Amino acid sequence: MTDIKIKITDRDGILHEIDAPTDMNMNLMEVVRSYELAPEGTIGICGGMAMCASCQCYVLSDTALPEMGDDEEAMLSEAFNVKDNSRLGCQLHITEDMDGLEVELAPEEL
Ligand code: FES
Repeated sequence: MTDIKIKITDRDGILHEIDAPTDMNMNLMEVVRSYELAPEGTIGICGGMAMCASCQCYVLSDTALPEMGDDEEAMLSEAFNVKDNSRLGCQLHITEDMDGLEVELAPEEL
């Protein structure tokens, strides 16, 4: 299996069910960008370094995800619109374990 299914609700509230590759070393932020689910320049601003929070999303499913790293935790402690289920998409590398993941993109920080 090389693709997994992920449900992503965009910032307009539209649900997209997409296939994400597990063999291309992509993270969730890059998947959102590759499907153009958020306008260019509004997501992935720091390039995936856990330094901007533009890739913040809310995890809606109970999918087991890797623990947060220190950088992710630090960034989320400073970001806006953070909820208990917030994660940084760029820190979530797509793996087969994530099949069925459901997330919602956090609002854009202005
Ligand atoms: S892209 Fe900047 S924190 Fe994820």
